[in-house]
Amino acid sequence: MTERTLILVKPDGVQRGLSGEILRRIEAKGYTLVAVELRQATPELLAQHYEEHVGKPFYEPLVEFMLSGPTLAVVAEGERVIEGFRSLAGVTDPTTAAPGTIRGDLGRQWPTKVLQNLVHGSDSEESAAREIGIWFPAL
Ligand code: RTP
Ligand code: MG
Repeated sequence: MTERTLILVKPDGVQRGLSGEILRRIEAKGYTLVAVELRQATPELLAQHYEEHVGKPFYEPLVEFMLSGPTLAVVAEGERVIEGFRSLAGVTDPTTAAPGTIRGDLGRQWPTKVLQNLVHGSDSEESAAREIGIWFPAL
């Protein structure tokens, strides 16, 4: 089924100049870019985006990290792209993410309070619809 997902190149990825490499991997896999926009997140937008994590111990450092610089927000489209991009990204912890994945090839542990892992990808159809609505209300 053709579907859409929300991908973020987080501030660590943008700051390290990896936006192009990450977009290249999405396109090389065969997914279509529907929207790409460099945005500065706000606390309000992040509270919506990370609704499920509000109140968790890593929430405050996560917000601080996500406010540390611009984020590249992307909507990508394709057959099973939600699952497919999560597979391209690798597991949450970049130290153990498999080589070949974005996090495994390009990420690692830094001495920071929260895991900096380069990308976000929606984890279900419901999350994708909700998150696309937050970042790209016009879509
Ligand atoms: P994402 O939502 O960003 O695609 O990542 P995910 O599903 O793999 O991870 P999730 O559990 O949703 O956590 C959201 C983000 O919070 C940061 N995090 N740090 N123990 C920690 O330091 C920790 N736990 C979570 C990561 O940046 C993670 O991607
Ligand atoms: Mg998540």
